[in-house]
Amino acid sequence: MKTKKHHLLIWVLLCLTLLVSSIAIAPQQETAAAPKTDAKLTAIKKRGYMVLGVSADYPPYEFHKTINGEDKVVGFDIDLARQVAKDIGVELRIKELGFDSLLGSLKTGKVDMIVSAMTPTPEREKEVAFSQPYLTVAQKVIVRKGEENKYRSVMAFKGQKVGVQKQTTQEQTAKDELSGAKVVSLEKVTDLILNLQQKKLNAVVVEAPVANAYVQTNKALTLANVKFTNADYGCAVAVAKGAPAYLANVNKTIKTVQKNGQFAKWQKTANTLMFSKQNFWQAYGSYFLKGTGITIVLTILGVFFGSLLGTLLALMKRAKNKLIKGIAVVYIQYFRGTPLLVQVFMIYFGTQVIHLNVSAFASAALALSLNSGAYVSEVIRSGIQSVAKGQSEAARSLGLSSKQTMRLVVLPQAVKTILPALGNEFISLLKESAIVSVIGVGELMFQTSVVQGSSFKPFLPLVIASLIYFALTLILSLVLRVFEKN
Ligand code: ARG
Repeated sequence: MKTKKHHLLIWVLLCLTLLVSSIAIAPQQETAAAPKTDAKLTAIKKRGYMVLGVSADYPPYEFHKTINGEDKVVGFDIDLARQVAKDIGVELRIKELGFDSLLGSLKTGKVDMIVSAMTPTPEREKEVAFSQPYLTVAQKVIVRKGEENKYRSVMAFKGQKVGVQKQTTQEQTAKDELSGAKVVSLEKVTDLILNLQQKKLNAVVVEAPVANAYVQTNKALTLANVKFTNADYGCAVAVAKGAPAYLANVNKTIKTVQKNGQFAKWQKTANTLMFSKQNFWQAYGSYFLKGTGITIVLTILGVFFGSLLGTLLALMKRAKNKLIKGIAVVYIQYFRGTPLLVQVFMIYFGTQVIHLNVSAFASAALALSLNSGAYVSEVIRSGIQSVAKGQSEAARSLGLSSKQTMRLVVLPQAVKTILPALGNEFISLLKESAIVSVIGVGELMFQTSVVQGSSFKPFLPLVIASLIYFALTLILSLVLRVFEKN
């Protein structure tokens, strides 16, 4: 009897300890699964804003629209991103990039999240973390109207040029499923549509909502009746790896807006916005103005700092000290021997790698200046070399010092050859500045592609941009001619 009581007591005690310990352990386990915060989330909250990376060429997900005379990036992806920021309690800032630059920007910390109709793929999941999908859509093929009967199955694309956006899942789908097609990858969806209209491409693969948007706004295009076997893609929000609390916040927002019907409302709004008619100039004139302004400022900065740097390099190259000379030679060789496009990316992403947060505009101005410095130095050097040797020999024999010879005899003559060549350099700098649109600097070329996207007119904006560039270079050469005469 005694032992029985004993047993009972031990049992009760055992159960009690189990209960107590499970209560004590439970909250700990919960924090381990989804911590309240993490370094990334804390950093964002402290900063007070978060940066959204987006490729705004994808109506109705994300696109440009003029609202009350102001250029805005809109679409249901943007609404979702804004809600995520709101739920975290910070402001949203939008950073536009090419779709193929988004992952790099997220990994280097240039942006805090991507909401850009991005599909979680195994390759991407190695690099970044994805939320739960907020939308699942099919893939469609756009073709020119009247040719839809030619393309009734995946086999019909054999030998045909099929366009896709660079670095997207469509790229893979087209390669895997449209057997024998020649797949062409371009940076922007607007470029794909333009190429299709002009018969440079025979078909374009994009997500169904985007395909419908372009077909409905463009009478020359229609959808081909093609079924892919493996092409229902989910779209999800991407954030950096190793931030579980931050990701949990994003997931919670997605869940809520889907449940309460908010997401469906955003989709409707995006569709209405997309098709609301506007007068072209009223809607887009300001884009070209703004773009032209930024192009001019970038060129002026590039010319100014490029000339300073170029003069310095030219002097260094004439130096007796081998090291100084060597630095100049290598610098010039490097900046003239690699594409400006690569230099722009290197500066923009490279500064982030060494933990300097340089804005896209500053990176662009820096890249243009560094690049132009190399060319200017060569212009100056060849100008000095063009002055006949006899000139400085004569000056020296008349008793002038080498500095005086340079200043009084060689340079004044060299300027005659330097000026026109320098003028050419400035003109090419103005044109080359178009390249920096890849990192999202809002100069003329960037604005042009924005207008292409939101107006659904792929060609007209290009004509306007080319006329503006033409006018700018014309004015510049006229100004330079006045200088050369004096
Ligand atoms: N869903 C596709 C992908 O993840 C295409 C997304 C393109 N998005 C864009 N904003 N252009 O590859």
